[in-house]
Amino acid sequence: MGFFSKDIKTLDDLFVHTLRDIYYAEKQIEKALPKMIDKATDPQLKAGFEKHLGQTRGHIERVEEVFELHGVKAKTVNCPAIDGILEEADDVSGDVDDKEVLDAALIASAQAVEHYEMTRYGTLIAWAKQLGRTDCANVLAKNLREEQATDRKLTEMAESKINLQAAE
Ligand SMILES: [Fe+2]
Ligand SMILES: [Fe+2]
Repeated sequence: MGFFSKDIKTLDDLFVHTLRDIYYAEKQIEKALPKMIDKATDPQLKAGFEKHLGQTRGHIERVEEVFELHGVKAKTVNCPAIDGILEEADDVSGDVDDKEVLDAALIASAQAVEHYEMTRYGTLIAWAKQLGRTDCANVLAKNLREEQATDRKLTEMAESKINLQAAE
């Protein structure tokens, strides 16, 4: 924030700021996922995290594409929200002893991450459309759809198997 005036003046400024926020978040998620892959025991969960790591790299590229389309520099701004979600994920999983309970904890943490991403992409898509940037909105919608699909898959894995195993 500047000394003489505030940095975010228009909806366009806010759009760019939020794009930089999700850019930071996606990069932090890319760093966190390998740790979650290591910790997961269930092979399907492990494979799911591996797949989402690949998708996350694609999300970073798509966000870079949106910066380019919008004619602004691709850079990050700190996002304390995702840092907090990932820090808590790490703390909780470090405190769980039983491997099957750990899988349930990892799913819960991963879904908190997905929901954060979904709220950001939902907002960015709405603002892009408002700003007349349907080109940007279409690219962002691809990321949103993958986050939603991942979230649904995690729910399905938890309810069909992981939670049952954790409760045994
Ligand atoms: Fe993502
Ligand atoms: Fe994600």
